[in-house]
Amino acid sequence: MVNTRAEAFAPATVANLGAGFDILGLAVEEPGDVVRAERRAEPGAVIVHIEGDNGRLPYEAGKNTACVAAGETLRLLGVRTGVTLTIYKHLPLASGLGSSAASAVAAAVAVNALYGAPLTYAELLPACVAGEAAVSGYHADNVAPCLFGGITLVTGTAADQIYALPVPPGIVLALVTPDITVPTAEARAVLPASVGLRQMVAQTAAVARLVDALHRQDIAALAAAMEGDVVVEAARAHLIPCLAEARAAAKQAGALGVVISGAGPTLCAVCDGEPAARAAGEAMQAVYKQAGINSAARQTHIAAAGARVLQVL
Ligand code: HSE
Repeated sequence: MVNTRAEAFAPATVANLGAGFDILGLAVEEPGDVVRAERRAEPGAVIVHIEGDNGRLPYEAGKNTACVAAGETLRLLGVRTGVTLTIYKHLPLASGLGSSAASAVAAAVAVNALYGAPLTYAELLPACVAGEAAVSGYHADNVAPCLFGGITLVTGTAADQIYALPVPPGIVLALVTPDITVPTAEARAVLPASVGLRQMVAQTAAVARLVDALHRQDIAALAAAMEGDVVVEAARAHLIPCLAEARAAAKQAGALGVVISGAGPTLCAVCDGEPAARAAGEAMQAVYKQAGINSAARQTHIAAAGARVLQVL
């Protein structure tokens, strides 16, 4: 039987986890993007409709992350026919929640499912990385957790350079997104080209503490280690309004630590349990409200699994 349509979901991700710039990331249960792929006789991928982006995303094949990932997946599959794509954006753009990675991953998984899913997720990774690269450069710290789920250590863009780390039970995240955009390219442009030896020692120590805390399921130590970033947050803080105030308010409300999610402006509060996450989210929103900035709060868990096929018809 030939499938005519497949739909896949891919979750939001929190990259960096503070100290682990470009090498650590995690997948959350929700929200996520959905991409529908349908067969067409002509080769290649084309986008027929995008919903939920307020007209901001490009339809051109080479500029849209989902279209690039779908085209690469078709190439890996070695098929001569093509696909049309419908993208349902549920993630805010340029918000630090891995929006471009989610669309790329959902597209790759949907196209693979359309053709009977012959490729493993590891085999789909290069297509997803190519999609992400179309908009924000060759790094897999969003793409890898989005595809595979859980918390990932990303030491390169190949599947054998990605390691699954343990997820401590009980951890709940409060994600608060102020209503401003911080394009990843801009947030990367402000980073220092080199760091001193002292900073290098402090940063590697924080990452080591972070990985150790995950293995010991110690959420408080994890949150403290995440906040041990001495390089990236300092350079980006001016791009994130009310960072210090929001962090203080979240901690006062019970959060164990607060970091910038990805390139921002979303803030991620690490909490032990749902009541603390709810209170932390409300406290951060109150800070933004006082500053006259609208914000959206989401309380979510780390997802053990990443992208998934929703339906194949
Ligand atoms: N690690 C990246 C950054 C995440 O912080 O710039 C955004 O893709």
